[in-house]
Amino acid sequence: MRITVSLIKADVGGYPGHSSVHPKLKEISESMLENAKNSGLLIDFKVFGVGDDLQLLMTHTKGVDSEEIHKLAWDTFVKATEIARELKLYGAGQDLLKDAFSGNVKGLGPGIAELSFEERKGEPIVAFMMDKTEPGAFNLPIFRMFADPFNTPGLVIDPTMHDGFVFEVWDILEHRKVFLKSPEELYDLLALIGAKSRYVIKRVFPSEKHPKISKDEPVAVISTEKLFEIAGEYVGKDDPVAIVRAQSGLPALGEVLEPFAFPHLVSGWMRGSHNGPIMPVGLDNAKCTRFDGPPRVVALGFQLANGKLVGPVDLFNDPAFDNARKIANEIADYMRRHGPFEPHRLPLQDMEYTTLPKVLEKLKNRMQGI
Ligand code: F6R
Ligand code: MG
Ligand code: MG
Repeated sequence: MRITVSLIKADVGGYPGHSSVHPKLKEISESMLENAKNSGLLIDFKVFGVGDDLQLLMTHTKGVDSEEIHKLAWDTFVKATEIARELKLYGAGQDLLKDAFSGNVKGLGPGIAELSFEERKGEPIVAFMMDKTEPGAFNLPIFRMFADPFNTPGLVIDPTMHDGFVFEVWDILEHRKVFLKSPEELYDLLALIGAKSRYVIKRVFPSEKHPKISKDEPVAVISTEKLFEIAGEYVGKDDPVAIVRAQSGLPALGEVLEPFAFPHLVSGWMRGSHNGPIMPVGLDNAKCTRFDGPPRVVALGFQLANGKLVGPVDLFNDPAFDNARKIANEIADYMRRHGPFEPHRLPLQDMEYTTLPKVLEKLKNRMQGI
């Protein structure tokens, strides 16, 4: 059975500030999606809040970029925005950057990760949701899952993974893409994706020699929307989401989660302007408090059963990730002590899309030649 999994998210109002999602926004979203399920449009759905982002996870058979599914997500965000306005939640409607829906939510503000595939006999998937960071924050962990044998011994041990994977990398500034094969083009791949504010992994495919999964069927997808490009000015970070399939010729569930045992530095955090560690947390702790952060990542695991979402298991709600959280807290302390100095604060080039240029503008006429 060919199933599409769509994870579509937006910040339509925070509570308080930019820290979390009000339960009423989740309630109204659930009732909207329940209607869509009853009418047969959706097979199944789940609604979550991660940081200040409202997350709609949906399964259906309409394929990626379906107008019906995108309209459903858009209408749900619009409805949730009405409640957010009533409750005067912070930044109500923040991510709905355009007034009207025109066939696809891409470019309108919400972030989207969608995968369409033939559901296998056993189909474990993980929905990753990050808050207070940008799509490039997924580069390192996705690379490690599918290309780093020190993370994923399956690349060495399992003959079905031995031919590696193909990475679709987007240049989000120039709007171009390139497909790079690992392990053959590993260094080219790293040359690009190490520059995570510009080159982002969009999808991962099996190699053409993969014995179990067609080379055209993506096994991971990441949302790559750039809010500043849509809005033309800073309107908050484009907190990314991803869907990753696991097991049986793909990285095992534990290999998919292992990269997050290292809380790597990502950009975002306070005012979308700071480098800081990404902390893996369970849903209960998916609220951005300290210095509007630190950036968080949640991992929810499901088995698919003919499109039904069996789950979730809140995968980072586990003592095995305590040490990563402890290290993240230590790094947070260390980074915070730099105050407004780089490299805690992002380099100037990345500050271009924040409110900083407005401050610098004031000093323009006072600048003298040296
Ligand atoms: C980061 C984020 C917050 C805000 C900060 C200031 O992505 O959304 O850190 O940038 O709370 O928000 P305003 O300017 O709305 O007071
Ligand atoms: Mg917000
Ligand atoms: Mg957010």
